[in-house]
Amino acid sequence: MRIGVIGLGVIAPYFLRAIEDDEHLTLTAVCDRNEAKLADFSDDSGVATYTDHRELLASGLVDAVVLTLPNAVHAEVAADALRAGVHVCCEKPMTVHLADAHELMALARQSGRTLFTAFHRRYNRNVAALRLGVGDPTAIERLVCRYSERIEEHTGSEAWYLDQDLGGGGCVIDNGPNALDAVRTIVGELELIDATIGDVRRGVEFCAELELRSASGVPVTVELDWALPSGEVKDITVYGKDGSVRSADMLAGFPGFKSSLDHEYAAIMADFRHVVSLGDAYTDAGPDIVALVEQAYAIARRKEPRLRMPSKRPTVARLVKLLFHRRDERGMTMSPWLSRCVRQGELHELVTTTDQPSRPGDRVDAVGFLGFAEFATATVVQRGDVVVCNGQRIGTVAGFDECHWPNHYNILIDTERVLTAEDLNLQVGDPLQFLETVR
Ligand SMILES: NC(=O)c1ccc[n+]([C@@H]2O[C@H](COP(=O)([O-])OP(=O)(O)OC[C@H]3O[C@@H](n4cnc5c(N)ncnc54)[C@H](O)[C@@H]3O)[C@@H](O)[C@H]2O)c1
Repeated sequence: MRIGVIGLGVIAPYFLRAIEDDEHLTLTAVCDRNEAKLADFSDDSGVATYTDHRELLASGLVDAVVLTLPNAVHAEVAADALRAGVHVCCEKPMTVHLADAHELMALARQSGRTLFTAFHRRYNRNVAALRLGVGDPTAIERLVCRYSERIEEHTGSEAWYLDQDLGGGGCVIDNGPNALDAVRTIVGELELIDATIGDVRRGVEFCAELELRSASGVPVTVELDWALPSGEVKDITVYGKDGSVRSADMLAGFPGFKSSLDHEYAAIMADFRHVVSLGDAYTDAGPDIVALVEQAYAIARRKEPRLRMPSKRPTVARLVKLLFHRRDERGMTMSPWLSRCVRQGELHELVTTTDQPSRPGDRVDAVGFLGFAEFATATVVQRGDVVVCNGQRIGTVAGFDECHWPNHYNILIDTERVLTAEDLNLQVGDPLQFLETVR
């Protein structure tokens, strides 16, 4: 098969080596819109060079193309290739939008050409060993896949990864496809249950958690992270119903940076050749994975709770008056507000309770008094804030009682026991912090 490679960036060398090592494949053309990237292919290399993929496709020099392009470019170039009667091996994700993936599948059917997504982790030898070891997916209690890296260590000079229009998002669309596909080869088809994203900057998320379920009911968690301090963690752990725990570390046995990719990309090209020979009988998993990614964004981008995104500056409130009493029938009332603005220099009263008030109007009887504290800077105190004093966690803000307003609020703090200043050995001047809960 005569192959053209379109896009000569970071991942292209793994394909080029795999093509060179495969006796059934011949590299006949390459394309990159950046002419400098073509410099490695001299006139006498036997490889034609192009800066426009349409010229490469019209050259008659290729039976198939490998697409190693920014995510948002896959749909257009793959469609051009299929229309030109050329088989396509496309880097993941097949497309950013599911509608484009469906269009490509229809084009592939019409043209009688193969459309194949290069999910390299399904060929990882440690993942393959895990798949064999696990065998029957109905014996699985649950599965966890972690896919973490520092994205800057994996990108080239182009910054499209950080541009929502070109990349489609962050770690969900970048690492999600390989993680989801590898998991799918162990437990079968997946249904998305929930998705949470975090550390979102200009539409690009740096961490995410996906909750899924396989057709046979196995719960699956996929944890994605683009912001490890350095290095990579890429593994799958399978917890069996019999209490067994089996794992595949995708990088074990491959100490060099990205060194596992050589055997994975060699297997991609061998499998691509094979599925081209199958013709219509082959069904690509690409659109199913695009669908999961699209659904994950639809859920996660609507949700308020986000991972790892601090949103308020730390503030300190110093105790100016300690209180030592407690009451069993105080009769405070939860106000309707989940948060209250507090101005610099304001004083508010801190009240612990074991009543766990959660709705507006809830009566609060079992209370202990810590004292009054002066806020050093303006802030927003909100339900769920963790209250800390001298490094000791006191409890979490439940809400507010306004019986003394406008003099001050009673800030209600959920605690396991009713506590007073005495119980916590509080001193005048001690600093209290209100830390937001960030998962
Ligand atoms: N980098 C990785 O570790 C990695 C791993 C697995 C999959 N992938 C996937 O591979 C694809 C490419 O990623 P990359 O990291 O190699 O990107 P890259 O930015 O390093 O390379 C992309 C190349 O495409 C060229 N290009 C852009 N638009 C073009 C166009 N219209 N016509 C011709 N050339 C064009 C750019 O000049 C660049 O050389 C992405 O879909 C990515 O998700 C990357």
